Amino acid sequence: MIFRQLFDSASGTYSYLLASRHGGEALIIDPVLEKVDRYLKLMEELDLRLVKAIDTHLHADHITGLGALRDRTQCITVMGEQSKVDVVSMRVGEGDKLGIEGVSLDVLYTPGHTDDSYSFTMADRVFTGDTLLIRGTGRTDFQNGDARAQYESLQRLMRLSDETLVFPAHDYKGDTVSTIGEEKRYNPRLQVKDVDAYAALMANLNLPNPKMMDVAVPTNMHQGLLQAEIARRGWAVSAIEAQTLLGRRDVVWIDLRERSEREKHGVIPGSLHAPYPDLQENVRPGGVLHELAGATGKRLLFYCAFGERSAMAVRAAQDCGLASACHLEGGIGAWKDAGGACDR
Ligand SMILES: [Fe+2]
Repeated sequence: MIFRQLFDSASGTYSYLLASRHGGEALIIDPVLEKVDRYLKLMEELDLRLVKAIDTHLHADHITGLGALRDRTQCITVMGEQSKVDVVSMRVGEGDKLGIEGVSLDVLYTPGHTDDSYSFTMADRVFTGDTLLIRGTGRTDFQNGDARAQYESLQRLMRLSDETLVFPAHDYKGDTVSTIGEEKRYNPRLQVKDVDAYAALMANLNLPNPKMMDVAVPTNMHQGLLQAEIARRGWAVSAIEAQTLLGRRDVVWIDLRERSEREKHGVIPGSLHAPYPDLQENVRPGGVLHELAGATGKRLLFYCAFGERSAMAVRAAQDCGLASACHLEGGIGAWKDAGGACDR
């Protein structure tokens, strides 16, 4: 496995780059905007293709690199389903798996620091975001934080095996990694007798707000810009308009989501499945979708969860000369809200 822990000293943030091999797919956890050039250079040097960029939660202390990485690599942006961030291309929930080629993360909902905080586990390690820090825990006094919920989340993390490596989203003291067993014994925040004691401890920290908070939170809330741009070019179909296109012989509906999303949220009847990571290959001349559109004269109508991946797909298809390609604005979420049919 290729594993890199990257540090942003201005905000004390750790970001993690993972891949199973050189020349393969990569994912990054908690990227920082100012470091995006560095990540891209490193991925180029290691011959990696970024497929997913993930935030463990809405950050208050730095601006996320998710939007910039999406714009520069067309990667999938991922956050938890509770997140209020306007558009991410894929949302995950408790018990889901989050994967790229050769790497699979188990998704654990661990609220408390914020109500959209997640941890991601692998066989030997856990990425804890700001839920569990090395000899500390993330503050719970803003962003819908809740010390009681965090206590429960920490109890869940403590049920991982003692040898599990702990990789947090931040450190301010110079530590890089710990283990669950070590934190159990030496993390002062975990030496409390019950949830009431933990809530009392967290209520009395009297921390100043993060320096970047007034800038970072509103900026991080609004990372989805692409859909409006695509609509301005006339490449978008609203969920209402799209109802009239269902079952039409001159339209091919293409689902860009992953199998797990299709199983969990259903599919639009009659649609083809062509996962987003293979898109570039599929829409270029000679690719399956390019040839399908060429041979049949059919219009390609892309859709995904929220319209973000499909907006990127439409741009890629248009770039490859598929002039009638369009996408379902707002994705299957908007489709269902508009009363659209859905197969399980
Ligand atoms: Fe945080």
